[in-house]
Amino acid sequence: MKVLVTGTNGYVGCILAPYLMERGMEVVGLDTGFYRDGWLYSDNKQMVRAPLTINKDLRQITAEDLRGIDAIAHLAELSNDPLGQNDPKVTFEINHRGSVRLAELARKAGIKRFVYTSSCSVYGAGTGDFLDETSPTNPQTAYAECKVLVERDVGKMAGEDFCPVFFRNATAYGPSPRMRFDIVINDLCALAWTVKKIAMVSDGSPWRPVVHVADMCEAIYRGLVAPEGAVRGQVFNVGRNSDNYRVREIAAIIAAEFPGCEVTTGPSSADNRSYRVNFDKIHSQLPGFRCQYTAKDGANQLHQLFQRIQFTDEVYKYRAFTRLKQLQYLQKTKQIDSELYWC
Ligand SMILES: NC(=O)c1ccc[n+]([C@@H]2O[C@H](COP(=O)([O-])OP(=O)(O)OC[C@H]3O[C@@H](n4cnc5c(N)ncnc54)[C@H](O)[C@@H]3O)[C@@H](O)[C@H]2O)c1
Repeated sequence: MKVLVTGTNGYVGCILAPYLMERGMEVVGLDTGFYRDGWLYSDNKQMVRAPLTINKDLRQITAEDLRGIDAIAHLAELSNDPLGQNDPKVTFEINHRGSVRLAELARKAGIKRFVYTSSCSVYGAGTGDFLDETSPTNPQTAYAECKVLVERDVGKMAGEDFCPVFFRNATAYGPSPRMRFDIVINDLCALAWTVKKIAMVSDGSPWRPVVHVADMCEAIYRGLVAPEGAVRGQVFNVGRNSDNYRVREIAAIIAAEFPGCEVTTGPSSADNRSYRVNFDKIHSQLPGFRCQYTAKDGANQLHQLFQRIQFTDEVYKYRAFTRLKQLQYLQKTKQIDSELYWC
């Protein structure tokens, strides 16, 4: 199977490409390279199996780029809440329009399988009750709203000739050469290592389901190879019921993995994003899938990595590991324009 993976220079994409190649798939990458400057570490997996990558903006993909492709795993978007809020209009252009257009091109080209990386942030401000795939969505940001719209519009295209699958991922964590420190576990582990203190700006009460980046890749792999009938038009939450944590619980798990780290909480926050998610469906209906890692495993892996590479505060704060910082830098230095095209 020849798979186009969009977003191969991203946090998840750079783990996913070798993950699929190890499982016998041929991978072609596509990425515009916003975070090209950021590479935290090397190991033999990434170096040996870096895919051939088309350096192109998602909005400029043509039918020609899809020639010979059998399936698509679509990850390339402005991919978190703060980034999406930076300029909601551009976020809609890339994340909503760009993704729907890619799906339309795929269907026209006869590419049936289209795996889309949605997010549990579609649930937005929950009540604390467990939400499943049938629960109403309640997006709080442009990023989350776009995820809902792509699911809706691409979902409508499902049929005999097109098999889209939607994965609503929990917040990811774990080592990746294209590291991100704007996601909760990675960020708190970096603080635990660099300053030995996790000072939460909120009371840490919001619920956040989390999933290891490798488990996210496993879901995408299973979504690509599952029989059509099991996945066509289906939405799956990706994670595990026991990995719904309050942010302060996550901080405690990390502090236990980084001896000497102190944790403090702040006042209740205005950020109302809080959701607790049920992950039964993916474990019962996606053939072969199960989550392998826990938050504790992820914190442990990050601890070992930081030790191995002698991770420093300077590297932690480097712009290319925090998405919004990097895009603001590229705009300020006029390397990309207001619509995020390279100048
Ligand atoms: N990381 C998470 O916690 C998480 C959780 C839920 C869902 N997701 C989804 O998974 C996908 C991958 O996430 P990630 O963490 O790897 O994100 P990332 O920001 O690390 O990587 C995204 C990649 O897409 C590229 N990209 C962005 N806009 C593009 C465009 N217009 N054209 C071409 N390339 C473009 C970027 O250069 C980047 O390399 C995203 O769709 C994201 O919304 C991620």
